[in-house]
Amino acid sequence: MKIDSLCVHGTEFAEHTGAVSVPIYQSVTFKHPALGLSTGFDYSRMQNPTRLALEQTIATLECGIEGFAYSSGMAAIANVLELFSPGSHIIASTDLYGGIIRYFRSISEKNGLSFSFVNTGDLMALSNAIKSNTVALFVETPTNPMMDVTDIEAASKIAKRHNILLIVDNTFLSPYFQRPLTLGADIVVHSGSKYLAGHNDTLAGLAVAGDTSICERLRFVYKTVGSCLSPFDSWLVLRGIKTLGLRMSRQQANAMAIAEFLSTHKRVKKIYYAGLSSHPGYNVMKKQTSGFGSMISFEVDTADTAINSLSRLRIIAFAESLGGVESLMTYPTIQTHGDVPETEKNLRGINDRLLRLSVGIEDVTDLIDDLNNALQ
Ligand SMILES: Cc1ncc(COP(=O)(O)O)c(C=O)c1O
Repeated sequence: MKIDSLCVHGTEFAEHTGAVSVPIYQSVTFKHPALGLSTGFDYSRMQNPTRLALEQTIATLECGIEGFAYSSGMAAIANVLELFSPGSHIIASTDLYGGIIRYFRSISEKNGLSFSFVNTGDLMALSNAIKSNTVALFVETPTNPMMDVTDIEAASKIAKRHNILLIVDNTFLSPYFQRPLTLGADIVVHSGSKYLAGHNDTLAGLAVAGDTSICERLRFVYKTVGSCLSPFDSWLVLRGIKTLGLRMSRQQANAMAIAEFLSTHKRVKKIYYAGLSSHPGYNVMKKQTSGFGSMISFEVDTADTAINSLSRLRIIAFAESLGGVESLMTYPTIQTHGDVPETEKNLRGINDRLLRLSVGIEDVTDLIDDLNNALQ
């Protein structure tokens, strides 16, 4: 099956009534047929049939062996980091979602992990950052919010040479446009709250691995920590995935038109969209993805323009998050990256003139009119 069909049908689910939609198994516990026997489901923290359908679907879409569904993207990342022991060193992309930087700095470091933040798009810098205790590379591509691109295949070759795991946050493109495991990554993580669920109504996280021993270790952490996704939210993500292809194609077409509009706007000084041929990561994107996604960051002339535009928007909502059917505008310096120290934000290019737009599925002419009016 091709990806559009896989999104709709997921992993065929054996259900005796013939229900087309996977039922929501709202049960914490499951009866045992006899001592020592199990239906395959014992207790919902370990396994739940609705969640399993989602986990099998995401594993199939990402070309992995097993998938794991968590209560949020951050819970997925926190569980993956539990694979590493105190004393381990991790190399991470300089530009990352601010909540991940906060997690690394305030939780993981306390637990004995150390981090080097490097531009993982620069393979030389990446190689130079490897130490004897480096255990993993954590890469977002494109990154949030600066849209930096990393060559996953090249990074995976470096990682394999040094026996290091490559973890890719695939939130911005989803498996519809990018499948990191097929390019050599070991683990893929997602904020399922974004494109996968797709409707700005569900918080979820996912992880997929392509190796049995990593899956076993992740399964152990998963059932022990217990930050798994509820049956109802699993169902919502499954339902969202059915329209992933339609949404992502439409959102990308809208984003391309908006990026072209913004590129010529007098108040826009810089634009970061990986689908523009002027973007430094464009050629790597063309090689490793089947689409460019619909996240655009742009810098306007002054902080006043940025701030005033937020209250002038009528269709696009001024709100955190991304990836849903509704277009959202975010002010990264205060919102997604509010906890990152000022000096670090400046180094990353996150300033008070930067806006981040998640393009939705609305009529693109309405979106362009809204932006034009907001940026007056
Ligand atoms: C790239 C990326 N990864 C992970 C997360 C965390 O996901 P969640 O908000 O579902 O915990 C986010 C949140 O915005 C994100 O943008």
